[in-house]
Amino acid sequence: MLDTLLDTAISAAHCGAEVLKQYWGKLSDIHTKASRSDLSTEADRLSEKAIGEYLRTHYPDYGLLGEEAGTSATPSDDEYLWVIDPLDGTTNYAHNYPVCAISIALLHHHLPLVGVIYNPFSRELFTAKKGGGAFLNGQPLRVSSTPTLDASLLATGFPYNRLTHPNNYPEFCHLTDLTQGVRRNGSASLDLACVAAGRFDGYWERGIHAWDIAAGVLLVDEAGGQISNYALQPLDLFSGYILATNRLLHSQLSAALLDTRALDKFKKN
Ligand code: IPD
Repeated sequence: MLDTLLDTAISAAHCGAEVLKQYWGKLSDIHTKASRSDLSTEADRLSEKAIGEYLRTHYPDYGLLGEEAGTSATPSDDEYLWVIDPLDGTTNYAHNYPVCAISIALLHHHLPLVGVIYNPFSRELFTAKKGGGAFLNGQPLRVSSTPTLDASLLATGFPYNRLTHPNNYPEFCHLTDLTQGVRRNGSASLDLACVAAGRFDGYWERGIHAWDIAAGVLLVDEAGGQISNYALQPLDLFSGYILATNRLLHSQLSAALLDTRALDKFKKN
């Protein structure tokens, strides 16, 4: 059953990918949502439409939560729920920076069963199924073995409401001091895929949505990594907080994120 679900998710991702390729460099309708950095384009909307139609045709009884249609990031009561980001990395895409992906996960009672992350420009297809491992273009993935923060390369992102809400800047500065570097690549699903692939040793973010991370958390888990909230409690996909690492760094990164005294020196005023 999981193989069929995963194949369906991969085919749906390819439907979205056709839209992203078609509109690449040709956007005529870019508008802002809640803030000037929160963009939506016709590529987001049409990719979500194509993915949704494909999934509905094959699984008409399953629920569907997509970034464009999803007015809220709250969990639904559906036993099976497709969670879709039709274009993760919209700002990159709108600026012709080809770091973006389609992310599709199927949740069963809020836990991911299968996950697909596809960057149609690099043609990297990341896949995972519960208990069945994580793969990049068919090759098995394993998280890194970096044992300490001072030898690590991390990734993070910033919430769209960063001008008016806690914004992750203190955490970013603090971890930049403690590590070999922190990358901000603008696509949370690809950040998580890179943790699964051992390219990044860890990733954290606040103000993140379930559609950005649902597929990626399964990839990290299946590649041997660890996922939680900042305080090492089980991840709630809909809580807005995520910490994902190669497992070896997990408690160190958690402690650094919770070290508010150290973070205070980076706060304005
Ligand atoms: C965004 C990206 C970004 C992250 C933001 C997300 P979107 O997703 O994943 O890396 O920092 O929090 O909202 O809006 O491009 O799908």
